[in-house]
Amino acid sequence: MNKSTDRTGTNGAKSQGTPHVELNQFFSAAEARVDRWRSLHRVTKALAASDASAIERMRSEVNALLEELRPLEELNGYPGPELMAQINEQLEAGDSAALARTVQRVSAALMSNSYRDNAHAWSEDEDNESRMSDSILPPTVGRGQSRRPYFEVLIVAAGERATWPELRETFRKLRRDDDVYIYEPVVVGSFEDAVLATLFNYNLQSIVAVDGFGFASKHASPVLREILTPHVPSDAADRGGDMSGSLARVVRMLRPELDFFAVTDADVAKLAGADDSSLIRRVFYGVEEPMEIHLAILDGLKDRYETPFFDNLKKYAARPIGTFHALPVARGKSIFKSNWIRDMGEFYGTNLFLAESSATTGGLDSLLEPTGNIKVAQDKAARALGGDRAFFVTNGTSTSNKIIHQALLTPGDIVLIDRDCHKSHHYGIVLAGAQPLYIDAFPLTQYSMYGSLAIKPIKQALLQLKAEGKLDRAKMVVLTNCTFDGHIANVERTMLECLAIKPDLVFLWDEAWYGYARFSPFLRGRTAMGAAAKLKQMFRDPAYQQRYEKHQAEVAKLDVAKLVDKELLPDPRKARVRVYESDSVHKSMSALRQGSIIVVIDQDFPKVEAAFKEAFFTHTSTSPNQQIIASLDLARRQMELEGFELVQRMIQLAIEIRHEINGHPLISKYFHAATPAEMIPEQYRPSGFQDYGAPGWTIAKTAKTLREDEFFLDPTRITVLCGAAGFDGSQFKGILASDYDIQINKTSRNSVLVQININNTRSDMAHLIKALADLSRSIEKRLADGSESERAAFGARVKSLVEDVPDLPNFSRFHDAFRDDPKSKTSEGHMRAAYYMAYDAASCEYIKLNDKQIDERLKSGPELVSSKFVIPYPPGFPIMVPGQVITAETIAFMRKLDVKEIHGFNASKGLELLKPDALAAHKSKASQR
Ligand SMILES: Cc1ncc(COP(=O)(O)O)c(C=O)c1O
Repeated sequence: MNKSTDRTGTNGAKSQGTPHVELNQFFSAAEARVDRWRSLHRVTKALAASDASAIERMRSEVNALLEELRPLEELNGYPGPELMAQINEQLEAGDSAALARTVQRVSAALMSNSYRDNAHAWSEDEDNESRMSDSILPPTVGRGQSRRPYFEVLIVAAGERATWPELRETFRKLRRDDDVYIYEPVVVGSFEDAVLATLFNYNLQSIVAVDGFGFASKHASPVLREILTPHVPSDAADRGGDMSGSLARVVRMLRPELDFFAVTDADVAKLAGADDSSLIRRVFYGVEEPMEIHLAILDGLKDRYETPFFDNLKKYAARPIGTFHALPVARGKSIFKSNWIRDMGEFYGTNLFLAESSATTGGLDSLLEPTGNIKVAQDKAARALGGDRAFFVTNGTSTSNKIIHQALLTPGDIVLIDRDCHKSHHYGIVLAGAQPLYIDAFPLTQYSMYGSLAIKPIKQALLQLKAEGKLDRAKMVVLTNCTFDGHIANVERTMLECLAIKPDLVFLWDEAWYGYARFSPFLRGRTAMGAAAKLKQMFRDPAYQQRYEKHQAEVAKLDVAKLVDKELLPDPRKARVRVYESDSVHKSMSALRQGSIIVVIDQDFPKVEAAFKEAFFTHTSTSPNQQIIASLDLARRQMELEGFELVQRMIQLAIEIRHEINGHPLISKYFHAATPAEMIPEQYRPSGFQDYGAPGWTIAKTAKTLREDEFFLDPTRITVLCGAAGFDGSQFKGILASDYDIQINKTSRNSVLVQININNTRSDMAHLIKALADLSRSIEKRLADGSESERAAFGARVKSLVEDVPDLPNFSRFHDAFRDDPKSKTSEGHMRAAYYMAYDAASCEYIKLNDKQIDERLKSGPELVSSKFVIPYPPGFPIMVPGQVITAETIAFMRKLDVKEIHGFNASKGLELLKPDALAAHKSKASQR
């Protein structure tokens, strides 16, 4: 393989610091293919321009790339056999100019996806004019609603290869003018090729498996085989006649949204009634019913395409409705006729107002009691996100979290919670009256941020609760996955180990940032719903029962200290799968701001359904925003139909940005994208995983890492360290916004967080990299032109940002006044009592942060007790909660904090504390109860 192929191909220029990456090193298989087309475009262009001395070398580069691409192109509809044949002929004929043009055309069509709309992209004839406009404009521009969405259907055929063109033609001929969608059939002949197509072809929406296909791929190279291996069960080849079922199982694991159809000549009833049949949308007898298959394919697609709420809202908007309810903006008449706010109508457009209503009838539905299209939309969202049920929430995940807390906790319950969780959880616990048992995440002091909560401290807390006879009160574990900074938990292991200690624990996984992960075959297993589904399956499996019994024999005699270090397994007869996911759809998918969802797999949901409903009523507006609901419906449609493609793209882009920053000779002097090895301490990374695409690190190893390591770093959340450039996070964020129009959200003392989502493009990457390069150049120049003292000042600033970082304060404890048993080794407390005590001004006092009194009281008492949540931004987690005893570490951290925004703290008044006498009075009252 040639060594000059670059991974980015940005404008055909070889990027600095991005070494050649093998196909099996890519995190996203389909993006590996697109990468190769970009490279082929660059190399064929160079071949066409090269002189005689370079021709042979360039030709061999072209050949090597084509050799990699040929097997992949058999798995994809576009460019298809005809255009591939043309490329081969042009290469053989030595017509490098024509070859370069064809490759450029194909590669541009692939980059812009224009082949989905533009017939010219498929033609072997060049047509310069149409080529230019169609490949540069987004595919749907100017085509309006008449556009028919394009997709591909994989036919896994039993017959000889020679029969495939005819099979393809059979399906093509079934296209009818009034079909709403249009598809291209792609034929493969084996189980392995079908799996490869599922990975490499993101246009696939349906798979038709014709009984009798073979197992092994004829052309899978060692590299492709390595890509396949993590996904193919070792016994798949031995299952003989059961290949459709096995294939359906693998496809479900990789891309659960795809429709799977089985065609068989054998016993249809047997196949339809088999265990695997739930994975198969429909079973057909023989291929003599191609029209039925065609219609079933379109029907399956329609099921995903239909957005019941949005579709009805559009119909509603088009009706001549007179509104006599309280929503003057509905229909927009008071706006469009206004003398003064007509620009509001012009800016937002008519549809927004036509689609506004406070009605819940006439084609609309009620979010509070959904029985119509919102109910159907929620059911579809549950299917897409892998839950048993889903609930739309229109006030953000802040509200989703409060609903879950209130639904599942009662006063006095203990909830084990990562203190670094979003503040909505802490407030939710106050509302529910539960007692938080705060557990600290591992710190990343050097970046002034917390990592994530490891399994061991959660187990320690649970075992201690057990030792003190309080385990029955431990109701729920609350964790963030992934964290703001990208730490992805080992969800399955966390739940298994906790359930081993308390089999009916409820888990609330805050996946506010992470909804997209459902659509990545690699990350899905590390989502709440992915892991919950797996646990449900495991607990029913006799093999797990045996594994458990063996494990039980091993752990029966271990003492608590040893249990903490042992990987625990729950008793499948006792364990309940009770998992709740809250997900800011607006943060990672195409929902409007505040569009959030609660997704549930809870075997005991019927027991809490009434409480859940009450909690939903408590927090949900009676005027939920119709547009947010519609956008949740649409975000679901998009992710079911193109989530796989979009997520692969965004992950690949994020990995490239990381490599561009760290590989660029100038940028990397001042900026650095923190690698997984830097963000995750070694003890949580037994695989030794260092970085995405690190030399020799293949996707098979990454798959193992994802299965086994305690934490994995989300590639799309890039912590860019800026301390070496002399910028603190807030300052750097400001410069990026004011000088480069680049918006960043989260910062720490010496970093900013660059988040990549499905909306980002290669141009965004270029924009960011150029900004970093410009900044690096200007620092370089300033240092070179400046005086010695200026250089010394810069060095001191860097040192202070990089080395002089405050220790992160751990949660101390609740004051004894708020503890049932002050001698207990677990730290839960009555936070709600402390919270409400602060409502009485007479119970509170203020002391300024730098007042000597603080130091004196830290030394000699009385204890300083916070009356408030104090939440600095950044880092955004409460460093004090109501009723918490304030320690010297917390004060030192506060004094070193150089952020302006600290919720719950007014510098001019000082720290708000609960007075010692008020605490004493509360304690004495509590002890009398
Ligand atoms: C982990 C986490 N959970 C929940 C939320 C709240 O989500 P929303 O903004 O949708 O209310 C946030 C917001 O940043 C968050 O970071």
